[in-house]
Amino acid sequence: MIPGVDPDRPGVYVHVPFCTHRCDYCAFTTFTDRGHLIGEYVDACVTHVGRLVASGRLVEAATVYVGGGTPSLVPSADLARLLDAIPRAADAEVTVEVNPDSVDGTALATYRSAGVTRVSVGVQSTRPTVLAALGRTHDRDNVTRTVDALHRVGLPSWNLDLIVGAAGETDADLDATLDEVLALEPPHLSVYGLMVEPGTPLARRVADGEVPAPDPDVQADRYLVADARLTAAGLDWYEVSNWARPGHECRHNLGYWAGADCLAVGAAAHGHLAGTRWVNVPTPESYVRRVADGLDPAASSETVGPATRERERTGLALRTRWGVPVPPDRTDRLADLVGAGLVEVTDGRVVCTPAGRLLASEVTLALWPDAHDDPDGPSPAARPGVGTRYH
Ligand SMILES: C[S@@+](CC[C@H](N)C(=O)[O-])C[C@H]1O[C@@H](n2cnc3c(N)ncnc32)[C@H](O)[C@@H]1O
Ligand code: SF4
Repeated sequence: MIPGVDPDRPGVYVHVPFCTHRCDYCAFTTFTDRGHLIGEYVDACVTHVGRLVASGRLVEAATVYVGGGTPSLVPSADLARLLDAIPRAADAEVTVEVNPDSVDGTALATYRSAGVTRVSVGVQSTRPTVLAALGRTHDRDNVTRTVDALHRVGLPSWNLDLIVGAAGETDADLDATLDEVLALEPPHLSVYGLMVEPGTPLARRVADGEVPAPDPDVQADRYLVADARLTAAGLDWYEVSNWARPGHECRHNLGYWAGADCLAVGAAAHGHLAGTRWVNVPTPESYVRRVADGLDPAASSETVGPATRERERTGLALRTRWGVPVPPDRTDRLADLVGAGLVEVTDGRVVCTPAGRLLASEVTLALWPDAHDDPDGPSPAARPGVGTRYH
């Protein structure tokens, strides 16, 4: 039911595990001391893609997503070389994530000539105090310059990422950030609630009482404020954390939410193909070595049975504006959820209301209480929260 997804053509996710600085809250696989490896890392990715093509696993990508880390730290000519190696459909969506202080007009022009159709910019906030609380290295001017350059090179689509709920952020900060980003007229916005990820410096600071944990009620209120403002500005909600003008939804993530196949290139990248899921080795060094040795860079893999896939697909679909078909024999539970204002039933489909989106996992469990009793055997059930990103 999720539109724009071709089940016969996989997406390709490329992970770039390099940053100049680690943000306190970030749990993504990335390294701040290994920039000298970028050249050989790109070479390894190109070799790996060549093997995926030679083995017939990659014929034509429907979407490509280069995420990080900070892909904009890769010299743009190297990024273009990597993209050139990936065979893709004529209408493929090709996204690159960038940090506002490590990208410029020249790099964006190179991306454009290399076939990039979409850029995602990590803005988080435009308020200096909030950016400082998040430990970010850019400012509002970097963001404006990046968006000006996106217009100059004529990128067909682009996204700005925001985070709500940082320590010290006020309602006025969020209002001002929304004013400023909406003035840039983005075709797509992602708004994540700050998640305190285990093992991050932020988690330690919260545990030590240095900073308060984000208040879920405040985050929920801010989410609802953001939703109302974005909707009024013509950005339609389409997944818990994502809003877009019509036609600017991220097709790569739509594929993920629809359970489509995705090949994984680079360290720590996750892939799934025909019922098998795997994750690549975790460091750039181990990835480069594996590829040089002619080995598959997967560190571990698991088979996912059809019942598990269906269950996961249902949970993910319920997080989107397309929802799920009304489940048979669940009339009472559904009536309770409608009565609680968490879901609506339209045209035979159950869709979360704004309040329900914040409790999408609970709504799934209320409708399918046996959802975690897995007939296919144990599997890490995905129960993503507001801040969860998918690649
Ligand atoms: C992995 S980052 C990559 C983009 C780029 N490196 C940047 O930070 O600008 C992608 C996005 O994930 C979001 N993110 C990362 N960690 C998060 C967390 N702990 N809670 C909420 N959002 C988070 C941020 O909005 C960030 O822009
Ligand atoms: S949020 Fe982005 S810039 Fe910050 S450490 Fe994570 S990947 Fe790097």
